[in-house]
Amino acid sequence: MPTLRILFTRLRAEEKLLREAAEKQNIPCELQNVSNIWYGSRPFCDKGDVVLARCISHNQNEAVAQILESQGIKVVNSSSVMALCGNKLSTSIALASAGIDQPEFRTAFTPEAAIEALEDLGYPAVCKPVSGSWGRLLAKINDRESAEAVFEHKSMLGPMHNTFYIQEYIEKGDYDVRAFIVDGEPICAITRKSNHWITNTARGGIASNLHLDDEVKSLLRSVHQTIGGEFLAVDLFKRDDRWLVNEVNDGGEFRNSIEPTGTDIPAAVVKAVWEKRPA
Ligand SMILES: Nc1ncnc2c1ncn2[C@@H]1O[C@H](COP(=O)(O)OP(=O)(O)O)[C@@H](O)[C@H]1O
Ligand SMILES: [Mg+2]
Repeated sequence: MPTLRILFTRLRAEEKLLREAAEKQNIPCELQNVSNIWYGSRPFCDKGDVVLARCISHNQNEAVAQILESQGIKVVNSSSVMALCGNKLSTSIALASAGIDQPEFRTAFTPEAAIEALEDLGYPAVCKPVSGSWGRLLAKINDRESAEAVFEHKSMLGPMHNTFYIQEYIEKGDYDVRAFIVDGEPICAITRKSNHWITNTARGGIASNLHLDDEVKSLLRSVHQTIGGEFLAVDLFKRDDRWLVNEVNDGGEFRNSIEPTGTDIPAAVVKAVWEKRPA
């Protein structure tokens, strides 16, 4: 029987909500912990199945998706969408090619060049790991001495950190926006308010509903056209009166967005994924 398989490495609220949503829609659904199995030539899914990949580690999620896709199995999001979203530089390059507004960014490969790149943007600026989430290891750099210290430390942290990704700091007020796109259609959004410049709800940002007006919807549709994918979570900043796309997440966490928006995000996701199962 065709099954919706939700892959995970840690069972978060999101994966439980997704399973409940599938049950409510009478969709045959199985949660599968990918930590306990190994992957080779033998498929562990049937060709009729559809897979929703929800591993915490971006690298693992993408690896499992690639293997399953090579075995002819439909995975949401696809490994190519994961590759774009899982690397902030790749996302920025894609957005820039599509002419979508985002914070100015620079990339460098040595601490010395990173300082020059940052000074080209001006202080303050934000340095982030190209691959990361929950606001971890972000550095707001206010002057040259801090820049020297941050880049020297990063240069010792290993290969993950030697691509220096730097953005201009955006005066965004006390909030940013997290918007959800299912099957190309924006379904809801929250503002995340905080006294800290890092507003992730995982870091204490307070979620409230944001009404999606035509301007934001049309921006989100262009993001989807550029990135692809069945389920995206997009971070936006508003500077003066203009929206900027900060980052695009494949999947992402949504537990704090259901109640404020009144939108059943997991129901929309499982419905869209199930519709993608092979005929
Ligand atoms: N360039 C920036 N200017 C102002 N605030 C920023 C900037 N970049 C990130 N932030 C703040 O930090 C948060 C986390 O940054 P983000 O790029 O989304 O990384 P993560 O993948 O860890 O969520 C954002 O939601 C925002 O509140
Ligand atoms: Mg983010």
